[in-house]
Amino acid sequence: MEITKICCIGAGYVGGPTMAVIAQKCPHIQVTVVDLNAERIEAWNDKDLSKIPIYEPGLDVIVGEARNRNLFFSTDVDKAIDEAQIIFISVNTPTKTYGKGKGMAADLKYIELCARQIGRVAKNNKIVVEKSTLPVRTAEAIKSILDNTGNGVQFQILSNPEFLAEGTAVQDLLNPDRILIGGDTTPEGQEAIHSLVQVYSNWVASDKILTTNVWSSELSKLTANAFLAQRISSINAISELCEKTGADVNEVSKAIGMDSRIGSKFLKASVGFGGSCFQKDILNLVYISKSYGLHQVADYWEQVIIMNDHQKSRFSSNILQTLYNTVSDKKITFLGWAFKKDTNDTRESAAIYVADDLINEHANIAVYDPKVTSKKIIDDLNYLESRSAAANAESVICYNDPYDACKDAHAIAILTEWDEFKAYNWQKIYDQMKKPAFIFDGRNLLDAAELEAIGFVYQAVGS
Ligand code: NAD
Ligand code: UGA
Repeated sequence: MEITKICCIGAGYVGGPTMAVIAQKCPHIQVTVVDLNAERIEAWNDKDLSKIPIYEPGLDVIVGEARNRNLFFSTDVDKAIDEAQIIFISVNTPTKTYGKGKGMAADLKYIELCARQIGRVAKNNKIVVEKSTLPVRTAEAIKSILDNTGNGVQFQILSNPEFLAEGTAVQDLLNPDRILIGGDTTPEGQEAIHSLVQVYSNWVASDKILTTNVWSSELSKLTANAFLAQRISSINAISELCEKTGADVNEVSKAIGMDSRIGSKFLKASVGFGGSCFQKDILNLVYISKSYGLHQVADYWEQVIIMNDHQKSRFSSNILQTLYNTVSDKKITFLGWAFKKDTNDTRESAAIYVADDLINEHANIAVYDPKVTSKKIIDDLNYLESRSAAANAESVICYNDPYDACKDAHAIAILTEWDEFKAYNWQKIYDQMKKPAFIFDGRNLLDAAELEAIGFVYQAVGS
């Protein structure tokens, strides 16, 4: 079947950029991205491309090229489902906050709502694609809902997980390491796989398009994230040992990364990984393993999260200890709030937890982030429910200028590896700070020798 109409439910960090790239690379396909969130859709349609809701380098140009040509953003979910041959489900799958599996299992309520809506609306055969990250065997549940609520039409369910990383989403989508498509082994399943392969073949080489059964595809996504996060927790565990022994984690990381079997990527010690997915997906893996009675497997993966939590609280404890065991009424400046550079996403950012710890110690937190709004910063803290919104607003001041943010501070904590921090006039910052002036580099970003020569007391993670 030649595909000419695609719909994507969910206009978030995955749905928006992924569909923008499909639309740009396949001008013959009409791509409609729909969402319940009218404000988000309005922002995607904003004439001013700097106002689209997701900041990703290069995304504005792609949206500008394809929007209203063959890329559309709309709140009319029914119409888009009705017209499409392929429907991507790209809605959020957060960790459950209630009931069975609370704090571990993936909350599939948004997925189920999509399946029921597709079942109700579809009047001809459709291919339904799981783009969201889902527990292994979710396709079974989607199929059951569709078959039991549908109008007698045929549905094929494919799993096509997304591997893009935020901050590099456009490059990752344009040049993916691989495209993974899982489908049924039946002739209809294979035909559906072929249709989706044809879409990606417009810009991805065929040897990079991998097809598997549905369960392998679903599980590969959780496994890929678990392996990536595991590398960070592994090097972070070593960072603590480095601090005790005089080894330098950057040197250790380089030394082991030159072994081609280990490889050099994802070995940067840090204040801990953040982002919406690593923790959520590992917790999900742990939950699934437990539900099959595989307790050793569950414990093994859970340790990756335990190590990450330890790294975040170790970072704030170190600030407290170094500042003579009190940060009460001291100004501590956070450079960076996003969970990594080149994104305005703050979900699960280490900065949130470090700030929470320090506010508990009565510190005054000043924040500068080039892309995160002050509203978002306060909302993130309020979401933790550690204290009242009024107390958070009193403890945190957000700045639009990094030099103002650092003025009169006792210490600076680097929480995001934004490139611009490296180019600051650090002498000027030093001159305006309380002495001794401390820098706690949670990203191993800055040049220790240069800062120490100015007079800073500089500490990076793992050195
Ligand atoms: P997101 O929260 O940014 O976007 C999800 C969107 O879905 C929201 O705008 C929400 O309003 C919308 N939505 C929810 N239910 C809906 C419904 N019934 N009808 C219409 N719209 C609905 O989430 P995201 O970061 O794009 O993640 C989506 C999925 O992709 C998750 O499963 C995530 O694990 C996975 N993933 C995310 C990333 C990433 O970098 N963020 C990368 C790979 C995979
Ligand atoms: C991650 C994966 O890299 C993507 O492949 C995946 O699609 C995505 O999760 C997802 O499923 O959501 P993302 O979370 O956007 O992407 O960003 P990463 O580059 O993986 O960084 C995650 C966190 O790890 C960040 O806080 C980053 O600063 C931290 N990190 C990364 C380190 O602390 N050290 C490293 O060496 C690398």
